[in-house]
Amino acid sequence: MIRPLDRVPSIKVKLGLAVVLSLSVTLVGAVVGIKSGLRPRYTLPLGLLLSLLIVQLLARGMTSPLREMADAATAMSAGDYGRRVTATSRDEVGELAVAFNRMADDLAAVDAQRRRLVADVSHELRTPLTALQGLLENLADGVSTPDPETLESAVAQTRRLARLVTQLLDLSRLEAGQLPLHREPLQLSEFVDVVLREAESSAAQSDVTLSTSVPARLGADADPERLHQVLVNLLDNAIRHAPPGGRVAVTAEPTAQGIRLSVTDDGPGIPAAERERVFERFARTDAARASSNGGSGLGLSITRWLVELHGGSVHVADTAQGCTVVVDLPRSAP
Ligand SMILES: Nc1ncnc2c1ncn2[C@@H]1O[C@H](COP(=O)(O)OP(=O)(O)OP(=O)(O)O)[C@@H](O)[C@H]1O
Ligand SMILES: [Mg+2]
Repeated sequence: MIRPLDRVPSIKVKLGLAVVLSLSVTLVGAVVGIKSGLRPRYTLPLGLLLSLLIVQLLARGMTSPLREMADAATAMSAGDYGRRVTATSRDEVGELAVAFNRMADDLAAVDAQRRRLVADVSHELRTPLTALQGLLENLADGVSTPDPETLESAVAQTRRLARLVTQLLDLSRLEAGQLPLHREPLQLSEFVDVVLREAESSAAQSDVTLSTSVPARLGADADPERLHQVLVNLLDNAIRHAPPGGRVAVTAEPTAQGIRLSVTDDGPGIPAAERERVFERFARTDAARASSNGGSGLGLSITRWLVELHGGSVHVADTAQGCTVVVDLPRSAP
C-alpha cells in the first residue's frame, strides 16, 4: 500500500502538507471548472470531494499504527504477547510504534521467564514431595515399617522442601529489593571460624577436612547475617563436591578495592563453559543434575544477589583443578 507521507518525520508537517495540497487541488479544480463554464453549484461539491480524496490518500498510514497498537494492547491484556505493530512512518506515531514493539518484546520476555520460573519451581517442589508421598503411603499401607531409617529419609525430604521454600522466599525478597542490609564492622578471622565450626559436622560426614587462612585483624564492612549466608552456600557446595578425604579451604586477603574471600575445594570443578551459568536460578551442571544428593541450583544465584547487594562481585576462578569461588567485597558501602 502506498503511504506517500511515510518519510516526513513530523505529524505537524504532514498535516500542513495535507492541508496545502488539498487546498491547492481544490482551488485549481474550482478555477478550471469555472473557466470551462461549470456553475459553482457543481464546482463547489466537486472541489470538496477532491480535497477529501487527497486528504484520504495523504493521510494513509498516519493513524493505522495507532489502531494496531490499540488492538495489540487489547490482545496483550488477554495474555497474547506475540502481536507487533507495523512501523513504517518516521514521525512521532512511527516512533511510538517502535517503542511499543520494544515494550512488547520486553513483556514477552518477562512473561516467558515467569512461565519458566513457575515450571522450574513446581518441578523442584514435586521431586521431594513425590518421594515423601511414596514413603508415607508405604508406611500407611504397611508395606514398610516406621524404622529409624525410613523416618530419617522422610525427614530429609521434608528438610529439602523447607530449604527450597526458604531459598525461593529469599530470592523473591532479594529481587524485589526487600532485603535491607545491616552493615557493621566485622573481624573476618573470627567470623570465618564461626561459620567453619558450624560446617564441621557435615564436613566430617563427607570425610572432608576444612581449613582457613585469614590474616588477623582483617576487617570487613558487611551485613553479618547475609555474609554468613554467602559463606554457608559456598561451603555447602565445596563440601558436597569435594571427594572423600578431600580438602576445603576458606581464605581471605586484602585487595586494592577491599577484601577477597575464596572458597576452594579439590572436587571435579565446574567446566569453563558453565562458570557463568551456574549463577543463574536453577542452573546446575550436568554432573550435579545426575547426582541424587544435589541441591536445586539456587544457592549461587542467592549468593550473587547478596554479594552484589554489598556492592561486590562473585565469580568462579579459572583454575585447572578443583573449584575456587571468589567473592570480592568493597572496603566500605558503595
Ligand atoms: N564447588 C563446586 N564444585 C563443582 N561444581 C559446583 C561447585 N559449586 C557449585 N557447583 C555447580 O554449580 C551448580 C549451582 O550451584 P548452586 O549452589 O547454585 O546450586 P546447588 O548447590 O545445586 O543447590 P542449592 O545450593 O540450591 O542447594 C551446582 O549444581 C553444581 O553443578
Ligand atoms: Mg549450593
